[in-house]
Amino acid sequence: MAFDIEMIKKVYENMATRVDKARELVGRPLTLSEKILYSHLWEGMPSQAFSRGKDYVDFAPDRVACQDATAQMALLQFMHAGKSKVAVPTTVHCDHLIQAKVGATTDLEVANKQSKEVFDFLSSVSNKYGIGFWKPGSGIIHQIVLENYAFPGGMMIGTDSHTVNAGGLGMLAIGVGGADAVDVMSGMSWELKFPKLIGVKLNGKLNGWTAPKDVILKVADILTVKGGTGAIVEYFGEGATNMSCTGKGTICNMGAEIGATTSTFGYDDSMRRYLAATGRQDVVDAADTVSDYLTGDAEVYANPSQYFDQVIEINLSELEPHINGPFTPDRGTPVSKMKEEAAKNDWPLKVEWGLIGSCTNSSYEDMARAASIVEQAVALGITPKAEFGINPGSEQIRHTIERDGIIATFEKMGTKVFTNACGPCIGQWDREGSDKGEKNTIVHSFNRNFSKRADGNPNTHAFVTSPEMVAALAISGDLSFNPITDTLLNDKGEAVKLHPPKGDELPTKGFSVEDAGYQAPAADGSHVEVVVAPTSERLQLLAPFEAWDGKNILGAKLLIKAFGKCTTDHISMAGPWLRFRGHLDNISNNMLIGAVNAFNQEANKVKNQITGSYDAVPAVQRAYKAAGISSIVVGDHNYGEGSSREHAAMEPRFLGVKAVLVKSFARIHETNLKKQGMLALTFAHEADYDKIQENDSFDFVDLINFAPGRPLTIEITHENGSKETILANHTYNESQIGWFKAGSALNLIASGK
Ligand code: F3S
Repeated sequence: MAFDIEMIKKVYENMATRVDKARELVGRPLTLSEKILYSHLWEGMPSQAFSRGKDYVDFAPDRVACQDATAQMALLQFMHAGKSKVAVPTTVHCDHLIQAKVGATTDLEVANKQSKEVFDFLSSVSNKYGIGFWKPGSGIIHQIVLENYAFPGGMMIGTDSHTVNAGGLGMLAIGVGGADAVDVMSGMSWELKFPKLIGVKLNGKLNGWTAPKDVILKVADILTVKGGTGAIVEYFGEGATNMSCTGKGTICNMGAEIGATTSTFGYDDSMRRYLAATGRQDVVDAADTVSDYLTGDAEVYANPSQYFDQVIEINLSELEPHINGPFTPDRGTPVSKMKEEAAKNDWPLKVEWGLIGSCTNSSYEDMARAASIVEQAVALGITPKAEFGINPGSEQIRHTIERDGIIATFEKMGTKVFTNACGPCIGQWDREGSDKGEKNTIVHSFNRNFSKRADGNPNTHAFVTSPEMVAALAISGDLSFNPITDTLLNDKGEAVKLHPPKGDELPTKGFSVEDAGYQAPAADGSHVEVVVAPTSERLQLLAPFEAWDGKNILGAKLLIKAFGKCTTDHISMAGPWLRFRGHLDNISNNMLIGAVNAFNQEANKVKNQITGSYDAVPAVQRAYKAAGISSIVVGDHNYGEGSSREHAAMEPRFLGVKAVLVKSFARIHETNLKKQGMLALTFAHEADYDKIQENDSFDFVDLINFAPGRPLTIEITHENGSKETILANHTYNESQIGWFKAGSALNLIASGK
């Protein structure tokens, strides 16, 4: 679908010389991850070796992908960059805003009505700026990227944490915030701390009931949800080459669940088969010319402990199917231990729903193997005990599995076929009765199972497992059912046994689709008008933030002194606010409503220094803005940790907060604040946090001399008139100070300076 073979050939042309140079600079054999990183430096040819886990490095990704929820603000910002076209190939995918309720046709119609203005906006901006647009119903972003755009040795970023799925095709694909995507789309570099490397050696071969999903469920169990932080996970060994490309995608996808920067696999035959089956033989031909550069050096894989920061070894021949959960994806239980674990922890044994789908597990192979279990159950005369739903990963998959009779098989068991979209995986599931809050169990093949994620019910115990195990557990209706050893009773009361799943990795008759749901952008988008109704409550065109007036900020009031943890969720809540992601004014009504006020230990209750009364944080800030009064936010350690959501930086900027002064920042949030033209400052002396009082005013007395490496002086005036002076550190470099002066990084790009 209009993938750019010339761009891919260019990447491969550069690869050999850049990797050879990097090998010389580093002075040892290289992992695949290092090869991709060093061949995507912003500077082009490597000129130095980087320290893993230490150096910040500028990269030049090959592609960008955005999903509909995050694309809104990203594109609204991009429109300000003053570009006529995106600088790198970019796609937008409509998959998050479609609810699963009745079934695909009806649900899609409802979504098209409810989110029409958002879809129309995304479509018109894409058309105008050279962005490939995938319509609602076309499929889930990461399946579509794998089917159409991912390529071995490439680097891409995407505004969704499961962008990492493309590692299944040997890419380094990384989830980022909208602000990073805007930079790359605008032709700027993208910065990343040079990651650490975890090597996972896969021995043996998957067999019987065990699936690729079990590899990552096992890895998550070993590494836990934080174990991959700041690292790339690189898989290798005979077990890796023995599995399908989409199976590799599943494993990489859930790398997000262990906090990994991304995960990847070396180029092999499974990738050749997949690329060819998805119409990309020319990518195979190009990749084959540099195949040695698309995998780690042999010596690295022979002695991995010398080259990786950590090595894990798993024997696939002995691996058991796993069921991870509830409430966290790293709580792994092998199927043989589930009976005992469930009893010990009082998990409800009755399975109410089985769900197959999500970007993690919605490939042709996943559907085929799960259907083979359903087929057996039908033949054995078993009535399924739980309800069953599937979300195919793309229209291409849906159309092909319909042609191949797989959907008909599912339907024999009353399975609901939902839209080719995220659906229940992102809580877009109108599950009947979930509002009652009853304790219950569901099993699914998704990646995340945090409390309330699928159906909003905090008492739903969601377990993550492979699609074939979802099918078996839903048919049995029993979480402790072990299909390897246990029998089921059929409708005649006979004990029957399910055989291990079978299913083609790729459709033998090839993929087939009538309308994949792709809209190519206009060749010349200059005439395309982007329409946003001024009355819209979901979308709002952005106005550029005002440039700095060149003066010291004087008389700024304290808006809130946040106490303890203040994540991006505290600063800009998710949940129902999701619908305002494209409307900065409306979403700003959630600004800091989750932060705890240090003076009363309450959330969303701060003092309005003009009136002396207490009110919600956004209301107080709007009052300051209306009165032309500046304000600052004070925070504790690791302020802004969590997601890379740029709304957490844009909202305070939009409402007139001038500075955020904290003990320490989460780095991405600090950068986001800088990009939006805010002052992101840290106390030079942490203890100064305690000097801040509820009625304080702040004068930034030497802002006019703002310079790299030079702390800023802040004079605090307390309520009784007494004054104290403190120092605030910052990490702005020359060009970031340029962002501050211009009012935002985008203003600077747009000015062409
Ligand atoms: Fe969508 Fe769930 Fe993946 S929300 S992108 S299917 S993690």
